[in-house]
Amino acid sequence: MDRKVEIESYLNERRQLVETALAAALPPAEGPFHHHFEAMRYSLLVGGKRLRPILCLAAGEAVADSCRCHDTLLPVACALECIHTYSLIHDDLPAMDNDDLRRGKPTNHILFGEAGAILAGDGLLTWAFELLSRPSVSTGGYQLSDGRRLAIIHSIARAAGSQGMVGGQALDIATENSTFPFSVLETIHRSKTGALITASLHVGAIGAGASTEQTGQLLAYGEKLGLAFQIVDDLLNATSTTEALGKAAGSDSQRGKATYPAFFGVEQTRRLARQAVDEAITALAGFDQRAEPLRALAEYVFTRSH
Ligand code: IPE
Ligand code: IPE
Ligand code: MG
Ligand code: MG
Repeated sequence: MDRKVEIESYLNERRQLVETALAAALPPAEGPFHHHFEAMRYSLLVGGKRLRPILCLAAGEAVADSCRCHDTLLPVACALECIHTYSLIHDDLPAMDNDDLRRGKPTNHILFGEAGAILAGDGLLTWAFELLSRPSVSTGGYQLSDGRRLAIIHSIARAAGSQGMVGGQALDIATENSTFPFSVLETIHRSKTGALITASLHVGAIGAGASTEQTGQLLAYGEKLGLAFQIVDDLLNATSTTEALGKAAGSDSQRGKATYPAFFGVEQTRRLARQAVDEAITALAGFDQRAEPLRALAEYVFTRSH
C-alpha cells in the first residue's frame, strides 16, 4: 500500500482512539460548573490533528506491543492534548495573538468570553495533572509504576512550564515587532512548540519501558520534529489560506512575529523544514519497522496542509 494512504489510515485510527478517550476523560457539562465544563469540552473536542497524543502512542508502539502501551498511555495522551488545547485557547486571547478562528470554529473567548476562556484554559491545564496523577492511571491490566508515573509528570510539567512552552510563549510575545538574532527565534520555536512535542515522545518512551538508548533516540527525534513542526506552521501561515488552515493565515507578518519566513524567506524556510524532518528520521536509525509510523509522521509534518 502507498505510504501516504497508510499514514492517513494510521492517523485516523489513532485519532479515533484518542478522541473517544478524550470525550470520556472530561466530566460532562452538568452540575454547578456546567458552563465551565462546556467551555473546556468545546475547545478540546472541536477538532485538531491530535498530533501530540498520537506521537506519544507511536513512541510507545516503537518499543512495546501496541495493546500493552495503549492501555498505559491513553490517559497520558489525553493529558498532553488537554495541555495543548489550553495553550491554544490562551494563545488566541485578545492579549496574546487575538485570533477569532481555531480548528475551523470560533475561538473559545468568542463563544465564552475572555474570563470564560482563561478559566477553560486553566481548567484544562489542571485537569491534565489530575488525569496523570490518578492512582489507577492505566485503564486496562497494565499499571504504570509510581516511579514511571512521576517521571512522566515531571517531563510534562517541565515541557509545559516556564522553561518550555510558557517561557516560549512569553518570548514570542516579548519579541513582537522587534529585531533579534536567529538564536532567539530558534529558542522560541524549540520552547513554545518543540518542548511539548519532545515531551510527548519522552513520556511515550517512559510509559512503554524504553531503554536509555531508545529514549535518547526518541528525544532526538522529538527535538527535530518539534522544530520542523513550528517551521511548517510558520510556512503555512505565510503561504496558505484561512479556509485551508481553519485559523487565520497571514497573521504572523501582521503581528510582527518572529518566524522562519521573516528571517529566511519562503524557499529557504522550506529547505530548513525538510532538513529538520530528515534529521528527525535519521535519529530513529536504531529502530526497526515498529518505528515506521514515527518516520511517516515526520513526513506528514512536512507535507501537511493544515
Ligand atoms: C498549533 O498546533 C499550534 C502550534 C504549536 C504550532 P497544531 O497544529 O497541532 O494544532 P491542532 O491541535 O491540530 O489544532
Ligand atoms: C502557538 O504558536 C504555540 C502555542 C500555542 C504554545 P502560534 O501562535 O505560532 O500558533 P498558531 O499559528 O496560532 O496555531
Ligand atoms: Mg502565538
Ligand atoms: Mg497563535
